[in-house]
Amino acid sequence: MTHTKTLYIETVGCQMNVLDSEMVVASLKRQGYELATSIEQADTILFNTCSVREHAEEKVYNNLAHLKKMKLAHPEKTLGVMGCMAQKDQQAVFDRAPYVDLVVGPGQLHRIPDLLTKIRDGEGPQMAVSLGRRDGSQADIRRSHETFDPLRDPAMRPTPFQAYLRIQIGCDKFCTYCIVPMTRGPEQGRDPQLIVAEAQELARQGCKEITFIGQTVNSYKYAEGEKTTRLADLLEMVHEIEGIERLKFVTNYPKDMTRELLQTVHDLPKCSTYLHVPAQSGSDEVLKRMKRGYTTSDYFDMMDRINEILPDASISSDFIVGFCGETEEDFQKTVQLVERCRFKNSFIFKYSERPGTRGAELFEDDIPEEVKSRRNVELLAVQDAISLEDNMQFLGKRMTVLVEGPSKVSIKKGESGPIRQMMGRTNCDRIVVWEGNERQTGNMLPVLIHDTGAFTLFGSVETAEIKPDVIEMPSFIRS
Ligand code: SAH
Ligand code: SF4
Ligand code: F3S
Repeated sequence: MTHTKTLYIETVGCQMNVLDSEMVVASLKRQGYELATSIEQADTILFNTCSVREHAEEKVYNNLAHLKKMKLAHPEKTLGVMGCMAQKDQQAVFDRAPYVDLVVGPGQLHRIPDLLTKIRDGEGPQMAVSLGRRDGSQADIRRSHETFDPLRDPAMRPTPFQAYLRIQIGCDKFCTYCIVPMTRGPEQGRDPQLIVAEAQELARQGCKEITFIGQTVNSYKYAEGEKTTRLADLLEMVHEIEGIERLKFVTNYPKDMTRELLQTVHDLPKCSTYLHVPAQSGSDEVLKRMKRGYTTSDYFDMMDRINEILPDASISSDFIVGFCGETEEDFQKTVQLVERCRFKNSFIFKYSERPGTRGAELFEDDIPEEVKSRRNVELLAVQDAISLEDNMQFLGKRMTVLVEGPSKVSIKKGESGPIRQMMGRTNCDRIVVWEGNERQTGNMLPVLIHDTGAFTLFGSVETAEIKPDVIEMPSFIRS
């Protein structure tokens, strides 16, 4: 009797990991795997991990500890750890959880199908990781971080009409707090021809919205002979592809937010006017210790450029509170920066020391946990008040949203379609919900906004206009 192989995969971390999981699932489906909805039903269990903060790692180790009993009772099940923590901890994953079968870094994911076969054939635990930043020639190190060219399968995406497209691998910025340059290796722009081909394939599959991803996506560069391709050029190339309706890119590095790029976003109607450009801190002393490579004054200049060229753009940021040596005065400067920049939203993190980074080596993690927590809550309150105030401007306005599907509330309530609360995003990345129909999913629809919170706009879809002799059907009913 042939037995279908079943896979359960759990993903944490950034968009890179979401895309990596999608590709791993697609490659395993080609090998005959089916997705299981629970760990119990699966014979292969994979954790796609993140190392950016200690908390994210501890959660995975706790999950693994919980699975020990199950694994010992069912040795035929395969338990794997992939992603950034696998790359960072390597053998240490086996040391902490000896019953793990597989450890695979994010640059080696293409080897997972073969490694799983080896494990099943009784060859014992397997590990595949990329080279460290000093463990070989530059070319070898780079190659070891290039995982497979995506085998895309629209069924693998949470929403088939939206997709991430990696344009850049790794990072060379070496911010002192950050582990990513170690887990994802050297910064490398992917070949523009591969990127365009992938975008064409996505469009052919019915994808309408593409988000280019890279750790510092606007630093993207690809040199070939005399010619250097930059992000602005990529946007122009992909903009021409029929079927693609919206283009986004994350995450941006403040120093590389050039006039040329902003002008391109302005000139290309499919480009979303949403820019995620983490500031990290409002204190020049802290920024210097973080080795971010810009001052607050550079950041304000960038904001001025954005406001001049893209006055309707919405900007979001990341902040780390409680970085080594951050005084109350430093923190208040961050509060002031948030008040001055009026971000659409901010992601705020408490500093988490990462062994292997320059920050861990050079500075003491000297801000007490309660101070970090208080600063986190305070900054969040400042940001939320701004988000709510800013959202007021949309009351009574009509905004075009790309419908992503039922809202979180609707899913939580267990509503079943077709009539239920729906959710979509505007061109400036604001979340909108309304009482709608599941069949609206995947369409661009005008929504009239009549209420708002700090994170969500509430609206209604206007009914189609009925002309005397032609009944105009809303686009979501046309099949
Ligand atoms: N490449 C992106 C972000 C990578 S990590 C960029 O440069 O902006 C996402 C966010 O996690 C960072 O922006 C930072 O705010 C946060 N982060 C990174 N390392 C951290 C650490 N050691 N402790 C707490 N937050 C951290
Ligand atoms: Fe980390 Fe800095 Fe690179 Fe972002 S730019 S991934 S924060 S090192
Ligand atoms: Fe985490 Fe790796 Fe992304 S450390 S944030 S999953 S690049």
